[in-house]
Amino acid sequence: MKNLKRSTFCGQINQTYLDKEVVLAGWVNRRRDLGGLIFVDLRDRSGLMQLIFDPEMFPEVTKQAHDLRSEYVIAVKGTVIKRQGAINTKISTGEFELKVSELQIFNESQTLPFQLDSASSQASEELRLKYRYLDLRRPAMQNYLKMRHDIVYAMRDYLNRNDFYEIETPILSKSTPEGARDFLVPCRIQPGTFYALPQSPQLYKQLLIVGGLERYFQIARCFRDEALRANRQPEFTQLDIEMSFVDEQDIQDICEGLFKELWKKFFDIDLQIPFPRYTYDEVFSKYGSDKPDTRFGLEINDLTEIFKSLEINPIKAVLNDGGQIGCLCVKGESPSSEHPTSERSSSDRFAGKKFSRSELDSYVELVTKELGGKALLWIRWKESGAVDSPLAKQLPENFFELVQKHIPTLTKADTLFLVAGQFESAWTILGQLRLVLGKNLNLINNATSCNATNCKDAFKLFWVVDFPMFEWSEEDNRWMAKHHPFTSPQQGWENMEIGKIKARAYDLVCNGEELGGGSIRIHDPKIQNKVFEMIGITPEQAKERFGFLLEAQTFGYPPDGGIAFGIDRLVMMFAGTDSIRDVIAFPKTQKGSCLMMETPSSVDQKQLDELHLKSTVKEK
Ligand code: AMO
Repeated sequence: MKNLKRSTFCGQINQTYLDKEVVLAGWVNRRRDLGGLIFVDLRDRSGLMQLIFDPEMFPEVTKQAHDLRSEYVIAVKGTVIKRQGAINTKISTGEFELKVSELQIFNESQTLPFQLDSASSQASEELRLKYRYLDLRRPAMQNYLKMRHDIVYAMRDYLNRNDFYEIETPILSKSTPEGARDFLVPCRIQPGTFYALPQSPQLYKQLLIVGGLERYFQIARCFRDEALRANRQPEFTQLDIEMSFVDEQDIQDICEGLFKELWKKFFDIDLQIPFPRYTYDEVFSKYGSDKPDTRFGLEINDLTEIFKSLEINPIKAVLNDGGQIGCLCVKGESPSSEHPTSERSSSDRFAGKKFSRSELDSYVELVTKELGGKALLWIRWKESGAVDSPLAKQLPENFFELVQKHIPTLTKADTLFLVAGQFESAWTILGQLRLVLGKNLNLINNATSCNATNCKDAFKLFWVVDFPMFEWSEEDNRWMAKHHPFTSPQQGWENMEIGKIKARAYDLVCNGEELGGGSIRIHDPKIQNKVFEMIGITPEQAKERFGFLLEAQTFGYPPDGGIAFGIDRLVMMFAGTDSIRDVIAFPKTQKGSCLMMETPSSVDQKQLDELHLKSTVKEK
């Protein structure tokens, strides 16, 4: 028998198809037998269509339909008619049904390991990842991947209109141990040597600029062997951009144009450009993070000066050691008429919060057990006006007035959370505590399910600029490049203390997520060598690892800069999901495994021998 050939998709059936004969193909979503008649919901990528098998008109076909079970793959020929029963307003084809005259079963299906319609709530993620191809049949997953396609397509379209070339760079690349760990690939034909999978196309894109390509982009797969988190995968995708003869502003302009288009297309929101620019120092001292969520206030206040004048141990010891003490002030009462809303910062926007003792204890536990802090101090005031705090006895009588000088909006209904320590670490802990409080107290204006009218303020996009060029690594006991070692330092760097040098780098942040980061690159080999020296790379090591770049810098290297955006993170944000795995067709687990293919896996001894590799791991 000749195969039935699909003539249209289920979701496309509408009035224009009425009384017409069509062939549909897809999966049996559900079958119901009703007194002789059989109803089947047929599903394809575009939606659902109800089929009706009538034993009086088509007895043979109806008999065949008795065998249909969920997830069988079939094709049907029939005539589109108005539904005899109630209209289903939940689906676009709910007014119609297909009276089937011919049925072909392409493939049967066993009972699925989980029900597709309740998968997200009932099946474990492990089971869904093991049978990823079944999970992908769910409309929610199909919508995520469709959105990913639409976003990538819009990026390509925009960059093409702006004279960029899309150019692929190698996956078998060179190990350049900076940043995360590399994934290595042994080279069979040159025993003892390895390729590395690229952590990003950074060096290739700079070399394309030396090659005169001027404007490059790539939807680039990147590989990093690093600790995985909710928004990290070992292999992920970047929108990678590089341009020659540019400065920071040129790169940022191109990106703002792109994001304006994306927000218009997907949310119908007119983003205000240029985006605000904040310095690294500014955001870190206010929010304890270089990618703060600015949808709510709750900024960090520095109370070091107050505590310096008080003899409170062990805080005094920390301050004497060059430390600082920062404080989050959670408002305890709703905005009153004394403070009209327009004059209040967004941190004051929420209704008041009175913490129970056990809530306070749980925040102390969070800081000391999970965030790596030595202590969290809380201070509040009783109805009588007296201080209530583990440190109550040591605080002076005028403590409220002292703090109010720093935090003018302070009232005795508020609760203060304080962390003392070295600036970087204390502020980082306060920044993380701020995010937890923001979530628990519902301060964050959530962006999911928003539209042009209700989510004008749902996205807070801004550039963070003036990053430090280097950061001290306790683990390696040396200075490291904060971005990467090909980033240009800002003017005047030659005579500065290393920790004070700023980089010509910029990150784009949205709602607490780093969407992307980039920089103006070094194009002078003297500066490049000096930067390598500052991070402890000897001239010999530099030559061995990056000789090609240093050489390229002597053959007419134009001023250049670029940026890369995490596409998976962007799609997560657009789709309103908090798992990066939702927006990747075949993701890895937190342990780096693919449960479906069972990777990573062991290989045959013969393969190892061919690669001249010997495993030191004892077989289990
Ligand atoms: P960077 O390392 O900041 O810059 O990476 C750019 C963006 O990629 C995303 N990203 C990730 N997404 C998912 N999983 C991961 N493991 C992961 N790591 C990074 C983030 C990040 O902002 N070569 C430079 C760019 C440049 O200078 O042009 C680079 O790769 O959204």
